[in-house]
Amino acid sequence: MNGDSSGKQQADFDALVASDQRIEPRDWMPDGYRKTLIRQIAQHAHSEIIGMQPEGNWITRAPSLRRKAILMAKVQDEAGHGLYLYSAAETLGVDRAELLDLLHAGKQRYSSIFNYPTLTWADMGAIGWLVDGAAIVNQVPICRCSYGPYARAMIRICKEESFHQRQGFEILHTLSNGTPEQKAMAQDAVDRWWWPSLMMFGPTDAESPNSAQSMAWGIKRFSNDELRQRFIDMSVPQAQVLGLTLPDPDLAFDDASGHWVPGPIDWDEFYAVLQGDGACNEERLANRRAAHDEGAWVREAADAYAAKQAVRSSQAVA
Ligand SMILES: [Fe+2]
Ligand SMILES: [Fe+2]
Repeated sequence: MNGDSSGKQQADFDALVASDQRIEPRDWMPDGYRKTLIRQIAQHAHSEIIGMQPEGNWITRAPSLRRKAILMAKVQDEAGHGLYLYSAAETLGVDRAELLDLLHAGKQRYSSIFNYPTLTWADMGAIGWLVDGAAIVNQVPICRCSYGPYARAMIRICKEESFHQRQGFEILHTLSNGTPEQKAMAQDAVDRWWWPSLMMFGPTDAESPNSAQSMAWGIKRFSNDELRQRFIDMSVPQAQVLGLTLPDPDLAFDDASGHWVPGPIDWDEFYAVLQGDGACNEERLANRRAAHDEGAWVREAADAYAAKQAVRSSQAVA
């Protein structure tokens, strides 16, 4: 390709992004844009399916049939989110099997939040309220991402996440208004999940060197710190309704800015979990690899069925 035509392609791409239109799979895009999206969408897809594990642990121990049915539906939703996102990644020219291999080899990440253990039933409430709540704040702007398939996948995902958040809030509300033991269990879960939820937005803007490029490409709309602040401002009044406290003695309302300002975040913990030192890193990956191996026969059966159908339809044409 000569310089003129690639310059024109870059200009067309820039114009599409600047006018807030969508880049579609058939469109030319810069290599860096494609690579960034593949990495981000894959990490997002991996997070959805690894995220099934901490809650899957509690399906058999849900306190009632109603809670069990809701939790099963929620965990199934997360599998569905993984599927939409792997499909969106495939429109960029990668294969889902390749992405799963990278996850299993530890070469692509998933959200560190899922490396924390789920110790009590109240954790199902705290995860729904805080982890799905943080996911919503992160993901709603991605509904306007410049890459069409990712943006469209996110619209449906966000609708389901909002149900997840409300079911978590309802679990905590019930426990918080229950016996003193139940209320203490709810408080303990919030104490353990609050800080990791704040870390879900990623490092501070100063430590997030790739954010500016992602913003220029229309992939990212708000900075990590802006989204984290939005989540804190949203969560403080909800905690008050729940009758639970947030485990941050420095958290205070700042009249000048109109925001709730948190105390310092323990970034050493964030980086330690990211590097593999979380309570559950090894367990999550081992479970994922085992599930993949045990599912080999399903993939083989699907391939055999597809091959049979292809022969049949070619015979029908002949
Ligand atoms: Fe999800
Ligand atoms: Fe969710």
